Amino acid sequence: MRTLFSIVLAFALFPLVAAAEDHGDRYGGEDRGKPVQPAQVNAKWQQECASCHIAYAPGLLPAESWRKLMSGLDKHFGADASLTAQENMEITAFLVKNASSRWRAPTAPLRITETAWFKRKHDGHEISAATWKRPSVKSPANCQACHADADKGDFNEHRVSIPK
Ligand code: HEC
Ligand code: HEC
Repeated sequence: MRTLFSIVLAFALFPLVAAAEDHGDRYGGEDRGKPVQPAQVNAKWQQECASCHIAYAPGLLPAESWRKLMSGLDKHFGADASLTAQENMEITAFLVKNASSRWRAPTAPLRITETAWFKRKHDGHEISAATWKRPSVKSPANCQACHADADKGDFNEHRVSIPK
């Protein structure tokens, strides 16, 4: 019965969701910014945040996510990514200034891969569970496995290539 109710509800709400998308409130307000990366980037950010993975474009997350993430760098997803106070301030300012311009939800996830827009763009329809487990992909956070110019903030869907 509950399942049936959910299905009916989903159909009833679908026009609302579709309408919201038309009004720039896509993905329940958890949308990436446009552009995701400014033309001018901060050199410290590029240097410090690209040593273990690519420097993720600031527009992929909202300002509050960056503030939270930058205040916990000593315990950063199991790694110690600590910076000097000066570096931290400079990089935080860059990330906050260029954070997602289209985020409307009161949420602030620490992972790009946990945002609504990311999940929608990378759902089972686009990418199978087996693809994520390929050694050439390793982790959803490994953007450049499929987006060759991810480090330049280029995620154009016409240039996506899933490795074998
Ligand atoms: C010492 C290594 C290291 C450094 C330096 C580092 N990170 Fe990370 N970061 C990691 C690891 C490990 C993960 C988890 C990756 C995974 O789950 O595949 C991660 C994940 C992330 C994620 C989440 C990715 C996702 O799953 O969506 C963000 C955002 C992030 N880092 C931002 C930064 C920023 C900003 C900086 C610079 C201030 C930085 N990182 C510097 C190691 C590092
Ligand atoms: C296993 C391959 C793969 C990985 C890894 C991956 N993506 Fe994607 N991504 C895709 C595919 C395929 C699409 C195209 C979806 C579509 O056609 O709607 C896509 C679409 C996107 C889009 C939308 C592009 C557009 O023009 O609308 C963005 C933004 C994006 N990915 C960002 C990321 C980020 C950021 C990461 C890492 C945190 C990442 N992706 C990791 C395969 C991947």
